[in-house]
Amino acid sequence: MASSEPVRVMVTGAAGQIGYALVPMIARGILLGADQPVILHMLDIEPAAEALNGVRMELVDSAFPLLKGVVATTNVEEACKGVQVAIMVGGFPRKEGMERKDVMTKNVSIYKAQASALEKFADKDCKVVVVANPANTNALILKEFAPKFPAKNITCLTRLDHNRALGQIAERTGAAVSDVKNAIIWGNHSSSQYPDVNHAVVNVDGKEVPVRELVKDDAWLDGEFVKTVQQRGAAIIKARKFSSALSAASSVCDHVRNWVKGTPEGTWVSMGVLSDGSYGAPKDVIYSFPVTCKSGEWTIVQGLKIDDASQKLLDITGQELVDEKKLAYECLKE
Ligand SMILES: NC(=O)c1ccc[n+]([C@@H]2O[C@H](COP(=O)([O-])OP(=O)(O)OC[C@H]3O[C@@H](n4cnc5c(N)ncnc54)[C@H](O)[C@@H]3O)[C@@H](O)[C@H]2O)c1
Repeated sequence: MASSEPVRVMVTGAAGQIGYALVPMIARGILLGADQPVILHMLDIEPAAEALNGVRMELVDSAFPLLKGVVATTNVEEACKGVQVAIMVGGFPRKEGMERKDVMTKNVSIYKAQASALEKFADKDCKVVVVANPANTNALILKEFAPKFPAKNITCLTRLDHNRALGQIAERTGAAVSDVKNAIIWGNHSSSQYPDVNHAVVNVDGKEVPVRELVKDDAWLDGEFVKTVQQRGAAIIKARKFSSALSAASSVCDHVRNWVKGTPEGTWVSMGVLSDGSYGAPKDVIYSFPVTCKSGEWTIVQGLKIDDASQKLLDITGQELVDEKKLAYECLKE
């Protein structure tokens, strides 16, 4: 994808909080590299049209050298035209008093419609990452209704959870976060996810030390640590009165950059991808696995030893995805 030709990057929900944090990162080269020109396609819905225009004006005012054009529109087909990366942030938020099923109904119909527009108008090699919740199931619906794309091109974001896990280990051990790697987020981007540090390591004076060996507190790693990562989103809302935006935007950039440019040797990251049944995960749901990326393609890391307690947690989050898929299909029938 690296070329002097600009890459067309779509952000849906671009007038929202994550969109506002994300578009300047893309225009600064954090998504695709400091030498890669981009054209931003920003989509939002009619009630947000004025705010979207405000974001467009700010992008113009920022005079980003890499930004070669901006499309700001409420027309999904116009937004999808020729895009090579699609970052799906737009969706219907859960409001007070709404049932899970109501939120699911709204979102699956949005993702079905946007899948059709991508199918018709996006570049055939377009890479898609779904951020909007329920992220895994929205991505699954998008995959089903955009069959032109190989399934490997449709992913969902669990990199924020992955980065949260690295951040917690760094805080606990006093290491720099850049010295912590190979945590895993298994399953759903929901509180059923399993943040697993059984294979994670910290670089201490040039030597990779297993996190369990360094922390020496299994009760914390299996208890508070897991809970903190699972519930970090809620903690941010409580503190900020808004949900995570800058960390979500930054993690989107990490997800796409590693996907396109590759992961460093010996490092894996977490991505929600179509399950092939690895590690006993249910097939045909979008499940978060440890992956390495090379030449624009991800591969699930194989052969990791999973203990019984972990396997139970992998199964629980997998079952939740199976249930969500069932609910999504019921919603589509209505
Ligand atoms: N996967 C993750 O790690 C992660 C992390 C944080 C937030 N999220 C999710 O990301 C989504 C966006 O969060 P936010 O804080 O930016 O929300 P937000 O409400 O600030 O922004 C959402 C934007 O989407 C727009 N929108 C709604 N329907 C749309 C449609 N059909 N097409 C295009 N745009 C549409 C809205 O007008 C709004 O501008 C939410 O679903 C949130 O739960 C996911």
